[in-house]
Amino acid sequence: MTSKNIETQLVNAGRKSRYLQGSVNPVIQRASSLVFDSVQQKKHATANRAKGELFYGRRGTLTHFALQDAMCELEGGAGCYLYPCGAAAVSNAILAFVESGDHVIMTGAAYEPTQDFCNIVLKGMGIETTYYDPTIGAEIAELVKPNTKVLFLESPSSVTMEVQDIPGIVKAVRAVSEDIIIMIDNTWAAGILFPALEYGIDISIQAGTKYIVGHSDAMLGTAVSNERCWDRLRERSYLMGQMVDADTAYVAMRGLRTMGIRLAQHEKASIEVAQWLSERPEVAVVNHPALPSCKGHEFYVRDFKGCNGLFSFVLNKKLTQEELEAYLDNFEHFSMAYSWGGYESLILANQPEELNAIRPANPVDFEGTLVRIHIGLENVSDLIEDLENGFKRVY
Ligand SMILES: Cc1ncc(COP(=O)(O)O)c(C=O)c1O
Repeated sequence: MTSKNIETQLVNAGRKSRYLQGSVNPVIQRASSLVFDSVQQKKHATANRAKGELFYGRRGTLTHFALQDAMCELEGGAGCYLYPCGAAAVSNAILAFVESGDHVIMTGAAYEPTQDFCNIVLKGMGIETTYYDPTIGAEIAELVKPNTKVLFLESPSSVTMEVQDIPGIVKAVRAVSEDIIIMIDNTWAAGILFPALEYGIDISIQAGTKYIVGHSDAMLGTAVSNERCWDRLRERSYLMGQMVDADTAYVAMRGLRTMGIRLAQHEKASIEVAQWLSERPEVAVVNHPALPSCKGHEFYVRDFKGCNGLFSFVLNKKLTQEELEAYLDNFEHFSMAYSWGGYESLILANQPEELNAIRPANPVDFEGTLVRIHIGLENVSDLIEDLENGFKRVY
């Protein structure tokens, strides 16, 4: 890839892929059966089924291969596996590298279903999980055990947004063992704002559902892997029946092309809203990685190439149930939804005790209601006016 500029990379990624065959966008090749003209051709396809030859629908078609090429180019990987959603990418990437009796180290502020997967599925398989405080840094090395197989990172954290010292963590863990597979849920960075593989991480996972798709109308998971993990990740995910349909792969490929300009606008608008919030008397703290008030802001400045529209802030009081409903039910531009990354603005709130219940290893240090917002592509002054009216309803 020649340009280091994100917008150019996103427009060009995979465009030289042999699967595009001259068109700007890939064909949508829907297929289960892929027919062979001869025994020799079938033999060739079988031998090269993991190397981008058409073999059987579950291994992918031209549409999938084009997206996989683009993702590898963007994230610097040896291969990219596609999953039906981000949660499938997370669980299958972990499952590919653990067996009964193994140990996983997991951020204590991970996306809630990721923690549930460890607490329920991995536990049931006899795999132990140790959670760490996302601000831990190099001390993480003390958590490594002889049977530790996977270190799973997510930075910034879900909801509370702490940015981790990833280079420090990777260096400390690698000093104890080169064999531990380090993975990151890199969804917030849309893969490209934090070049995980360049930081020594083995596998960069994304819920493509968010910024890649970008329009809240399809679900996708991606896992871009370095050379050493690719064969195992690919074959185990394949055995687990993981795949995505060609239409979704197409939608994701098209989403990539506008992601640069969308991210730039999400970034600009979210910083403007975050700065406005930080001056409001109703707000105790703003957890936006680009603002110094966010834990780990210095790591964001050092390691990230930019930000997006998702952040949180804590109110200086805990809203009663009545206030919470008056606050959340009456926004004009912010809808409530368990997602983010689309063009629309979203809002959710969590009480401190709710957060403590879902992440017991990592209790929060505030007492007010936490509000998580996703700043979409609407006009910023409309969004600020909406937020201001929200405060008026409960203060
Ligand atoms: C950080 C993070 N990772 C993973 C996921 C899961 O993605 P999906 O909903 O596509 O399964 C989400 C969804 O909200 C998320 O926020």
